[in-house]
Amino acid sequence: MAGIGVVVAILVTLAAVLIPWLPTSASREMDRIEFVYWFATVISIGIFSLVLSVIVYSVLTFRVAPEDESDGPSIHGNTGLEVIWTLVPATLVVAIGVLSAVVLSQNGNAGTNPLAVNVYAQQFAWRFEYPQQNKLKSGELVLPLGRKVEFHMTAADVIHSFWIPEMGQKQDLVPGIQTKIIVTPTRTGTFTLVCTELCGLGHATMRAPVRVLSSADFTAWVKEKQSGGGGGTGAALFASAGCGSCHTFTPAGTTGKIGPSLDDLAAAAKAAGQDVATFTHESIVDPGKVIASGYQNGVMPTNYGQSYSAQEIEALVKYLTGAGQ
Ligand code: CUA
Repeated sequence: MAGIGVVVAILVTLAAVLIPWLPTSASREMDRIEFVYWFATVISIGIFSLVLSVIVYSVLTFRVAPEDESDGPSIHGNTGLEVIWTLVPATLVVAIGVLSAVVLSQNGNAGTNPLAVNVYAQQFAWRFEYPQQNKLKSGELVLPLGRKVEFHMTAADVIHSFWIPEMGQKQDLVPGIQTKIIVTPTRTGTFTLVCTELCGLGHATMRAPVRVLSSADFTAWVKEKQSGGGGGTGAALFASAGCGSCHTFTPAGTTGKIGPSLDDLAAAAKAAGQDVATFTHESIVDPGKVIASGYQNGVMPTNYGQSYSAQEIEALVKYLTGAGQ
C-alpha cells in the first residue's frame, strides 16, 4: 500500500512541478500567492496519494472471487479512525485558511509610502493617472521597481477587472465606487494588464501595456512625460485614450475592429453630409449621432467630451483627419 502511495505521490508531484501552471512571478504579492498555492498543493498531493493508495490496494486485495455470492463481514465503526480522519483534514483546512488570511492581509498592506496610481476603466480601454506626479496621465502603465504601488480604481460604465498575470493581484473596477489593490513589482520588463471581467463586445481587446522600470528610469520617464515629450498631441491622446483598441487607424498602426475604421473618415463625413472636421469632432463627443452601418449604438463611451479638454479633442480631430498635429 505504501508503495502505491509513493508511486502516486511521485507522479502527481512531477505533474505539479514540471508543468508551468503559473507565470513567473513579478511581484512580492505574487510570491506570497504562489506560496499559498504550493502549501495547498503539497497537502493535496499527500491526501490524494493516501486516498488513492488505500483505494487501489483495497480493490486489488479484497476483490470478491467471481463465484463468491456470500455476504461480507459485518463491520461497524472505528472510533480511532474516525477521530483521525476528522481531526487531520480539519487541521489542514484551518492551516490553509490561516495562511490565506495572513497573505491576504500582507498583500493588502500599502505600507507608509506607496506610489498612488488612479486607474480608469471603460469599454474598452484603460487610463492611468499619477496624482503624486502632477496628475500625469498615461495610456501605458509604468511602474517603478521595488516600490509598493496602490491603485485607486473605478469604472465609467460596467464592471471591469484589473489583472497583470505575473503580478497575481486581481480586483474588480466598479462604476460609482473606488476599489484598491496593491502591487510591488520585483523585476523590470514588459507585461500586459488584461481585463478579466466580461464587459462587452471588446472585452478581449481590453488590454494595456505595463512597463516596470528601475527607480531612476521611472523618475526619468515621469520627467519626460511632464515636459510634454509627445504629450498633448493628437497621436499621444489617441494612444492614451485607447482609441486603437476599438478602431483601425493606419497612421497609428492600430487594427481594432469593434468600431468603424478611422481610415475612411472623409468618405464617412461625405455620406453624413458634413465636412470631415465637424463630423470627426461630433463623432468623438457624441458618438451616438451617426452610427456607421454594421456597428452598434452605445458601444463607444459618450464621455470623451467631459474627460478631455477642448484643445485635446481638437488635437485629436486634427490627427485623425490628417490636418497635422
Ligand atoms: Cu473590461 Cu472586460
